[in-house]
Amino acid sequence: MILRPFSFTISLLLIIISFLTELAVVTALGSASTAAVTFGTATVCGIIAGEPNQRVQCYQHGLNISVLPNASFEALSGGRSFFCGLRSGGFSIYCWETRSLLHSSFSPKRIYFNYNVSLTDLAVGDDQVCAREVDSGITRCWRGGGSGGYPFPLPGNGFKFRSITAGSGFTCGILKENSRVLCWGGNKIGAEIQRQFGNLSVSNLVAGDSHACGLTMTGFLVCKGNNESGQLQVPPTSAFEFSYFALGANFSCGIKRRNGFVQCWGSGANNMSSVADVSFESIVSGMNFLCGLTTRNLTMICWGPGWSNGVNPAPATTTDLRLGMVIPGPCVQTSCNCGICGILLCRTDSSVQPTVTDANIITDVVDNNDSVAPPLRSFSIKRNSSRMLGRQRSGSSSSKHAEKTQNFSLLELSCATNNFSVENRIGSGSFGVVYKGKLADGREVAIKRGETSAKVKKFQEKETAFDSELALLSRLHHKHLVGLVGFCHENDERLLVYEYMTNGALYDHLHSKDNIEKSSSILNSWRMRIKIALDAARGIEYLHNYAVPPIIHRDIKSSNILLDANWTARVSDFGLSLMGPESDQEFMSTKAVGTVGYIDPEYYVLNVLTAKSDVYGLGVVLLELLTGKKAVFKIEEDGTGPIGVVEYASPRIMEGDLGAVVDRRVGVPEIHEAEAVELMAYTALQCVNLEGKERPNMTDIVASLEKALSLCEHSPASLSSRTISIPSD
Ligand SMILES: *[C@@H]1O[C@H](CO)[C@@H](O)[C@H](O)[C@H]1NC(C)=O
Ligand SMILES: *[C@@H]1O[C@H](CO)[C@@H](O)[C@H](O)[C@H]1NC(C)=O
Ligand SMILES: *[C@@H]1O[C@H](CO)[C@@H](O)[C@H](O)[C@H]1NC(C)=O
Ligand SMILES: *[C@@H]1O[C@H](CO)[C@@H](O)[C@H](O)[C@H]1NC(C)=O
Ligand SMILES: *[C@@H]1O[C@H](CO)[C@@H](O)[C@H](O)[C@H]1NC(C)=O
Ligand SMILES: *[C@@H]1O[C@H](CO)[C@@H](O)[C@H](O)[C@H]1NC(C)=O
Ligand SMILES: *[C@@H]1O[C@H](CO)[C@@H](O)[C@H](O)[C@H]1NC(C)=O
Ligand SMILES: *[C@@H]1O[C@H](CO)[C@@H](O)[C@H](O)[C@H]1NC(C)=O
Ligand SMILES: *[C@@H]1O[C@H](CO)[C@@H](O)[C@H](O)[C@H]1NC(C)=O
Ligand SMILES: *[C@@H]1O[C@H](CO)[C@@H](O)[C@H](O)[C@H]1NC(C)=O
Ligand SMILES: *[C@@H]1O[C@H](CO)[C@@H](O)[C@H](O)[C@H]1NC(C)=O
Ligand SMILES: *[C@@H]1O[C@H](CO)[C@@H](O)[C@H](O)[C@H]1NC(C)=O
Repeated sequence: MILRPFSFTISLLLIIISFLTELAVVTALGSASTAAVTFGTATVCGIIAGEPNQRVQCYQHGLNISVLPNASFEALSGGRSFFCGLRSGGFSIYCWETRSLLHSSFSPKRIYFNYNVSLTDLAVGDDQVCAREVDSGITRCWRGGGSGGYPFPLPGNGFKFRSITAGSGFTCGILKENSRVLCWGGNKIGAEIQRQFGNLSVSNLVAGDSHACGLTMTGFLVCKGNNESGQLQVPPTSAFEFSYFALGANFSCGIKRRNGFVQCWGSGANNMSSVADVSFESIVSGMNFLCGLTTRNLTMICWGPGWSNGVNPAPATTTDLRLGMVIPGPCVQTSCNCGICGILLCRTDSSVQPTVTDANIITDVVDNNDSVAPPLRSFSIKRNSSRMLGRQRSGSSSSKHAEKTQNFSLLELSCATNNFSVENRIGSGSFGVVYKGKLADGREVAIKRGETSAKVKKFQEKETAFDSELALLSRLHHKHLVGLVGFCHENDERLLVYEYMTNGALYDHLHSKDNIEKSSSILNSWRMRIKIALDAARGIEYLHNYAVPPIIHRDIKSSNILLDANWTARVSDFGLSLMGPESDQEFMSTKAVGTVGYIDPEYYVLNVLTAKSDVYGLGVVLLELLTGKKAVFKIEEDGTGPIGVVEYASPRIMEGDLGAVVDRRVGVPEIHEAEAVELMAYTALQCVNLEGKERPNMTDIVASLEKALSLCEHSPASLSSRTISIPSD
């Protein structure tokens, strides 16, 4: 039986295990997955990763068994002595009898085919096969196995489900209407499970032989049905602790979201050798054994008293199923040439789409409201999401594109960056290294991979903090901010995925020799430099005045101001607090925030962080734009220094000698530009005032720079006659 609550990159490994041994009774029950188990024929099947089509492959008594048709499947689920697969697209279902081989292959039987009605949630119980219509949520069922194709009782007319799962002789589903559990089938246990769940709403449900477990809206696992072996006795857990479950006859198991380890309960689990320190993407369960797909390399491991694989005496654990790698998620299409991750990438939109994801993926927990559904994996956001996002909406002018932030798997991102290769490395920002990557859908992105120092790890345990910040940041959409495309939060890893900015960092254009010679002539115009200053100021103004709650960037500098394909400047790296330690206090005591040359002196001395610290940082950037000097540099002539651009430029500008410091690469401002450049210079001086309260706010700065830009664009005739004289070299 396969139960996959919230899967992510989890594999649908279809495992069909059966036993030729007389005593074994292994049934595959459960829901759509990449895995399933049968009894009677020790067989394991999976959808194979890394090949162009998602074909199915089985393993039975040491033999590879090919499965026809050699076509692409999106889900598998196993029954008593057969398993079934849902073709990619959901338009047909095939089942295979596993007791006999014909021409060294299992022979297929197609039990459903209709191009007009796409199905999902393939759920095979011991004998029945059910699936849900994608559009309507109505469930269809058949008998599988030997009696394949005959009808199986249906839940009654008009019931629409969000997901379904199958046990021995019963099928249960979560009703769309009210998220309650409804069970049907000839078996009394189904009725009992339904009665015990009563009016409890669940977001996810998985069935075992004679019990079922569901995740409540508050994230707790509750199990109902047969408790003869204590399989309903869920150990004390915190909310959303389990990411995935699988139920056997006399036991239940879950994967812990934090580290991927498996925990089981119920006396049926007593004899299971524990598999310690292995992280799993998904697990599937037979009556008395368990198989899991390892996070590390997507291979399967099986263990438990019922796991013999035809070997006598039964090994405690089998790691070599010779199936190769199995895909870890329900995929429809593949498009990557990158080894094992090829197939993983098919999940291009893992934002919540409950109607099409498979039954056991935990979807939005709070309110099933697609329009505000937070990313898949970040459960802790959800509890407060309505409130938080609601405020964000009302406060944000750009809420109309409140796009969903994708939840990526580590494998996807690894694939996108050629395994985080050195060649893909494009820099290192605060708390992490940045890689250029290409997603399966062709989008170019910049991926920041957080450092996993002990200190940061400690922070990582505070998942709520990470997730809720992420929820806020993912709602920030502004044309002068680099957008957050998605994230990955897997085990100890945290990665943020940003839009890729084709024209790189302002810093490089101003200060790297290569760039100056090659392509930065576009920056060698005062109009362009003022435009960049204004763009950046608008991005920061949005963070300060329109984000809810307001965000202080804390690290404004020219290397965090990036230029997109249109040379529009955008502020990046505003997720600093995501990657950093938890509180400002702690932060200060260990490492001064920000970057030398840009740090607000008031903040440095008083440890008071305000929006005016960003204003200071922007002031330094304005001076860089004016002078072409780095925030801290050595004075070329005598080699002494280093000196800050603030100390260097401020006195001269104040004395009215702007001409002495302006960047000569841009040249003398045209007559009509002179006033604009002066205005930018005076704005910069105000920004770097030692006292925060004397500095202008971002709204003032935006207004000044808008004025400067408009001065630049005006025809020369309308301008004052002031000029800036530049001394000759
Ligand atoms: C299945 O199809 C793939 C191409 O899609 C081919 O490479 C492979 O050899 C085929 N396998 C079998 C068993 O026919
Ligand atoms: C699918 O829909 C078309 C047009 O509505 C109809 O002609 C056809 O018979 C339908 N096919 C099936 C298998 O229901
Ligand atoms: C659920 O049922 C219990 C008693 O069966 C009742 O007290 C409770 O109010 C019900 N809750 C809802 C939300 O209907
Ligand atoms: C299930 O059985 C265990 C002991 O086997 C018992 O402690 C527990 O209370 C039971 N749980 C339920 C929900 O009946
Ligand atoms: C589960 O427990 C029941 C009662 O203890 C027992 O009859 C049954 O054989 C067990 N099933 C398995 C598969 O171990
Ligand atoms: C555990 O194994 C022992 C010895 O192999 C066996 O006697 C016992 O019935 C098993 N218990 C369960 C719950 O399967
Ligand atoms: C896959 O990982 C498991 C557990 O980490 C290990 O035992 C096994 O040897 C690995 N297999 C391959 C083919 O790398
Ligand atoms: C079985 O097939 C898998 C995947 O195609 C391959 O990796 C493995 O080596 C094969 N095993 C045997 C025993 O042929
Ligand atoms: C979903 O959210 C939208 C917009 O916030 C709201 O209008 C609608 O009522 C919500 N629907 C449900 C079922 O909560
Ligand atoms: C949710 O919001 C309420 C009220 O704002 C707060 O008391 C509670 O601690 C929040 N819960 C979480 C999990 O953040
Ligand atoms: C560049 O400008 C064009 C035209 O305004 C727009 O369609 C495009 O989306 C812009 N590109 C970026 C990366 O903003
Ligand atoms: C910015 O400062 C000006 C005064 O310089 C003030 O009128 C305005 O309200 C301030 N804006 C914000 C958003 O604080």
